[in-house]
Amino acid sequence: MSKSFSIAIDGPAGAGKSTIAKALARELGAMYLDTGAMYRAIGLHMLRKGLVDDPDAVAANVNDVDIEVRHVDGVQRIFLSGEDVSEAIRQPEVSMVTSTVSAIPAVRARLVALQQQIAEGHDVIMDGRDIGTKVLPNATLKIYLTASAEERARRRCLELEEKGMAEPYEKVLKEMIERDYQDTHRAASPLTRADDAVLVDSSDLTLEQSVARMKALALEAIGNRH
Ligand code: DC
Repeated sequence: MSKSFSIAIDGPAGAGKSTIAKALARELGAMYLDTGAMYRAIGLHMLRKGLVDDPDAVAANVNDVDIEVRHVDGVQRIFLSGEDVSEAIRQPEVSMVTSTVSAIPAVRARLVALQQQIAEGHDVIMDGRDIGTKVLPNATLKIYLTASAEERARRRCLELEEKGMAEPYEKVLKEMIERDYQDTHRAASPLTRADDAVLVDSSDLTLEQSVARMKALALEAIGNRH
């Protein structure tokens, strides 16, 4: 049995991380973990409890949140106290709240521990903001995936439209820039490219081209482990 591998994909919102990571996980037979969904579940919970404007209350309550990640037929679903919130966490108002709540160190401590526990012993592809820097510092491969803010907003608009949750482009772009700023400027594990991460800019790449590029990087890195 060869040793398991891990691939860390970090980058700003809308760079295509989850779509590409899912495709890559299927091709490589690895588990995919969307860590943003875990932060979103905490954000949704705190929103429902009316605690998002009170960081101390969020920190005091985060360890009591009943959060669970399940993989059903290879697809990740996320549960809060047994309720499947996989769709509810995608509502646009949850995005900004999540970015705010994710800056609280107690939230990060709880979720980083859970993410490391879920990954243990599996071939895993994880995406997020601090995977290469904090969650999987010894990942087999680290990728920093980015694209221009305009292209990321355009893609996010299409995605929202497909889900019947269309929003104006200018609003999506403004919120994306605000969220990028917040995610890169927080004190606790800000979004940053790990020193040893490979930079992939998907601005001018199709989805297929991005997957192919990252698969080539993955096969090279996995092959090099032996
Ligand atoms: O990837 P996403 O857009 O679903 O993430 C939502 C928010 O969660 C993002 O704005 C910042 C936070 N997040 C984080 O701080 N660390 C991660 N590993 C993943 C997400």
